[in-house]
Amino acid sequence: MKRTVLYVLVLTSLMFSAAAARRADYRIIPLPKNIQSDTTQVFTLHDGMGIAYDSNDEEQARIAGFLASWVKQATGLSLSLTPSDSKAAIRLVAGDPKTKKKGRKGSFADTLTAQQQEAYTLRVTAQGITLQARRGIGLFRAAQSLRKALPAEKDQTVIDLPYTTIHDEPRFVYRGVLLDCARHFFTVDVIKQYLDMMALHGCNQFHWHLTEDQGWRFEVKALPRLALEGSIRQETVLGRNTGIYDGTPYGGYYTQDDCREIVRYAAERYINVIPEIDLPGHMQGALHVMPHLGCTGGPYPVRTYWGVSDEVLCAGNPLTLDFLKTVLGELCDVFPSKYIHLGGDECPKKRWKACPKCQAKIKELGLTDDGKHSPEDQLQTWVNRQVEQFLGEHGRDIIGWDEILAGGLTERSIVMSWRGTKGGIEAARQHHRVIMAPNVFGYIDHPQLKDDSNQLPSIGRYIVSCSKIYSFEPLIPEELSDEEQQYILGPQTSLWTEYVAFPQHLFFQLLPRLGAMSEVQWCRPDQKDFEDFKARLPRLTRLYDRIGIKYCRQVE
Ligand code: ACM
Ligand code: ZN
Repeated sequence: MKRTVLYVLVLTSLMFSAAAARRADYRIIPLPKNIQSDTTQVFTLHDGMGIAYDSNDEEQARIAGFLASWVKQATGLSLSLTPSDSKAAIRLVAGDPKTKKKGRKGSFADTLTAQQQEAYTLRVTAQGITLQARRGIGLFRAAQSLRKALPAEKDQTVIDLPYTTIHDEPRFVYRGVLLDCARHFFTVDVIKQYLDMMALHGCNQFHWHLTEDQGWRFEVKALPRLALEGSIRQETVLGRNTGIYDGTPYGGYYTQDDCREIVRYAAERYINVIPEIDLPGHMQGALHVMPHLGCTGGPYPVRTYWGVSDEVLCAGNPLTLDFLKTVLGELCDVFPSKYIHLGGDECPKKRWKACPKCQAKIKELGLTDDGKHSPEDQLQTWVNRQVEQFLGEHGRDIIGWDEILAGGLTERSIVMSWRGTKGGIEAARQHHRVIMAPNVFGYIDHPQLKDDSNQLPSIGRYIVSCSKIYSFEPLIPEELSDEEQQYILGPQTSLWTEYVAFPQHLFFQLLPRLGAMSEVQWCRPDQKDFEDFKARLPRLTRLYDRIGIKYCRQVE
């Protein structure tokens, strides 16, 4: 072959690979509902082009600003913000995403389902890139999708975007992620990174686990010692309850201003913050400060090791309800969420069975074993009902872990199924709303790889790999009728932190498993294919690299 021919061939192939590297790919995670592309034609985005938005609309201005910063972070491309410039390369448009017509923002609002409110269209034509949605939340989703479609390998000055029309909306209204900030404390900045990751993956409910046996982390102004003293354990057990301790006091709590800042930050990313005050069990942090609220009177150290404690709030002591009302009243002041989580899990009845006050309460309420519910389980339901009524006066509904089924559900309670899906199935059959957060498909404190020699410590066994999460079908069609399935609000993944003490470990546990969960939350079953998910994952993990976030590089 002549030298010049060889030279031209090498050059062409280099150019071709460079061109391939800087093309957008719309098969992102979670996979949009409908993508129609013409890969033979492209719109080329250049450094310095503009993002246009309605300058009278603060929400659009914020989303345009987010988009410019995301594009810069992912690709190095600088885009300018150009209010109301109809010729800009990227345009945010308020309107019905199904038509090309512009519409009034928020029109049809009252008749939209929650999913339709999040619907968006992303179009790429010769004229440029249009993000269209009726609501800001839809524009935000569209902007995130555009961000993820861009190649994130290296700094670039031009990117080709094949012509496309993408229509998308989430499958489930509730797309949750739990973070346990009680076993270990994470700073406000780390929580913001966590929220950023949630938003990147289209999640919309941050379930914030704030109180535990091992530490109380929510400031209550009427009871300052709760956070000041209830947040500090004297030391922490090493490994999995080895009996060996680190000898170092451990603490940290969130002021109400911190919490408001988290709520504000989350709201800008269309995430609702659901605080959890776990009651009447998991209360040893509080009991340390208020030992008179325990059945035995204490003393109760803030717990220094893991597992379930027998020490719980005394349900027969009227001061317990006063305490809960004080805490929950302040919680409602800080968190606007319609839903408040009251825990309800793992509340052993050992103390209640032996406690004169609890037994007197059982008698007063006339609770007897009816063959299905023990008196003590019904006593817990009575506590739940008091809390439900109090929170109802503040316009809130309660969520509880599936143990709240044991004594009978209160009228409006939402069940969060964690011990598999059984509790969720039972609650849906009783026509109660359900969040599916099964440990076996969603507890990402479990190891994600079979060979754990290179992994950071984690709880339990290898049961929650990426592919296991991916295989989850929250509607359980083999058990639930179409009508019963309507009660399933959506799935959640949960990150407990007994063994997760540092932010890098946190994100290693989270990613890319959150990617798998995001397709459970967004995609129809017929869209899902784990091999295809794996093929799409490198584009997302390259973005993780650009963001500078830690993740597990192996997927199985
Ligand atoms: C739980 O994992 N105890 C809700
Ligand atoms: Zn008691």
